[in-house]
Amino acid sequence: MKVLWNDQIVAREAVKLDIEDRGYQFGDGLYEAVRVYKGDMFMFDEHFDRLERCAKKIRLTLPFTRIELQTQLYRLISAEQISNGAVYFQVTRGIDSPRDHRIPDFSAVKPVVTGNVSAYERPQAMQQDGLSATVIPDERWLHCDIKSLSLLGNVLSLDAAMQKGYGDALLVRDGYFTEASASNLWFVFGDTYYTHPDGNLVLPGVTKLHLLNLMRQNGLKIKEEAVPAEKLATADEIFISNSIWEVVPIVNVDGNPVGAGKIGPLTKLIQDKYIASTKSKLG
Ligand SMILES: Cc1ncc(COP(=O)(O)O)c(C=O)c1O
Repeated sequence: MKVLWNDQIVAREAVKLDIEDRGYQFGDGLYEAVRVYKGDMFMFDEHFDRLERCAKKIRLTLPFTRIELQTQLYRLISAEQISNGAVYFQVTRGIDSPRDHRIPDFSAVKPVVTGNVSAYERPQAMQQDGLSATVIPDERWLHCDIKSLSLLGNVLSLDAAMQKGYGDALLVRDGYFTEASASNLWFVFGDTYYTHPDGNLVLPGVTKLHLLNLMRQNGLKIKEEAVPAEKLATADEIFISNSIWEVVPIVNVDGNPVGAGKIGPLTKLIQDKYIASTKSKLG
């Protein structure tokens, strides 16, 4: 298997990572996961824009330009002969020895880049049948807008849901839904889509951005407003969105059906528009 390691495409076995890499020791780094359809990266620019914004927020200087990274990732996609799949890449602040909390000067430490691609087809059964979920307190840090390598809060929330036999966690902070364990969260009340506004409490999803644009283009009603936890029982539909799964309905929360307990009409509508856009964008 070929992978990206700094500015090279190499065999996975050739990669040498250091135990004093700050990504490994502090979770000090960023990542992105980009969908691939027919060998093309979908919304690469939006992913790169978010990476640049996050890098600024954590005072990390990216060791590549947009074009350099894009070129390497396409080389990787061709080397692995991926048609439909996902690209994962991460940038850590680099190897810093001896271990020290203080952020080193960029001139002293070189960021470490790794990436890989994997084949992944559209998860049609999950997109049709949906997932069950449970409500979990959002106990993550207060910079959820940063796509940080430190995902322990997300991992623990998903694990808490799975331990109880549910497929995902719907996170609640201070009485309001924020997002799901690895996706943005959407509600439908009547004829209106609701999702948490961008800010420090949720990741500004690339899929969310695209869905909002599709909703606007199609004259659908949107409210970028946090939904109070106590309104859960009156939601007509709930769904989650991320780059890899696209749009997935949540059909049951804590054992209670959402709406009719199956994918709802407004979820299906926007799911279809999203899928159509992935085809038309790529011709
Ligand atoms: C916590 C969280 N929110 C939202 C998303 C959705 O982001 P995107 O649509 O850019 O994949 C993700 C994706 O990994 C995530 O981990």
